[in-house]
Amino acid sequence: MALPVVSDDVLPQPMLGPLTPAAVFLVVTVAPGGEPTAREVLAGLAGLERAVGFSSPEGALGCVAGIGAEAWDRLFGAPRPAALHPFRELEGPRHRAVSTPGDLLFHIRATRVDLCFALAAEIMRQLRGAATLEDEVQAFAYFDSRNLLGFVDGTENPVGRVAADTVLVGDEDPDFRGGSYVLVQKYLHDVDSWEELAVEAQEKVIGRTKLTNLELDVEGSHVDVNTLVGPDGGEQRILRAAMPFGRPGQGEFGTYFIAYARDPEVPETMLRKMFLGEPPAGHDPILDFSRAVTGTMFFVPSADFLRTIPARRPPV
Ligand code: HEM
Repeated sequence: MALPVVSDDVLPQPMLGPLTPAAVFLVVTVAPGGEPTAREVLAGLAGLERAVGFSSPEGALGCVAGIGAEAWDRLFGAPRPAALHPFRELEGPRHRAVSTPGDLLFHIRATRVDLCFALAAEIMRQLRGAATLEDEVQAFAYFDSRNLLGFVDGTENPVGRVAADTVLVGDEDPDFRGGSYVLVQKYLHDVDSWEELAVEAQEKVIGRTKLTNLELDVEGSHVDVNTLVGPDGGEQRILRAAMPFGRPGQGEFGTYFIAYARDPEVPETMLRKMFLGEPPAGHDPILDFSRAVTGTMFFVPSADFLRTIPARRPPV
């Protein structure tokens, strides 16, 4: 996938790419002693992506790698990204945002499932013996960008220059310019209860019309809860690349939520509003039909950082 050069001299990883019909999300923990292998896999990721995707340019294969807070110290030591910390669990009156293990995230996407599969298989082969799989999700685009609740998802995502500004670390952390923070949560939906609701009631939960995707002015809806205004009066945004997944035979219907941000405080504020709630609206009503079963935070260094890993000294 073509990598945009958004600042004069730093090449980011391809998180600004468009949503694709297929994605695979891998979360692994690095075993004690597995650090050199993990470093090699990260350093070789761009080459691996090229090897798998080169002969199918129409497949637009891309892979973004993220590194968790504890793993960062083990793999690279200082300096560390200024705002990197483990996912903070939230216990609301009704719903819980769990924090689950994860040292490395691989967000693989392409227009074709086979390309995602082949790259995931090769990454896991190279990590064998050095890392343990925590979670693996094969996700897909569903109809016209809908989630498994039946609503169009991703409409208000920033694009172009705004997306780059939303996502990429700048001069506030000079060692990590061109990087980003990424938060993932795997949600399972209670589709039976959801489908018992009338469409008008579902629309009030989401804050958009179901068929036509028009925004509704509903206080306390998911869209309302997640519309954040910063101290300067501007909207505070994240870049979402959430995708549906599931196994109908097992009754599993899910959304793999993934959000990139220049400052992790932005998605964390959204999560606090969703789970802890704010008077008078309370928690986000989407949670009455969606349970978070994972929650992990990572830092996505620039592509240049990954390429120069061999020259970076690991901690002794
Ligand atoms: C159960 C998982 C989730 C589902 C099914 C879901 C679905 C949706 C849908 C259908 C929309 C409206 C269309 C759009 O703009 O995309 C939306 C908007 C949005 N969601 Fe979610 N979402 C989920 C979780 C989250 C989480 C965990 C966050 C934040 C950490 C979040 C943040 C947002 C934001 C920022 C918007 C745009 C609000 C605006 O209009 O400005 N969502 N989501």
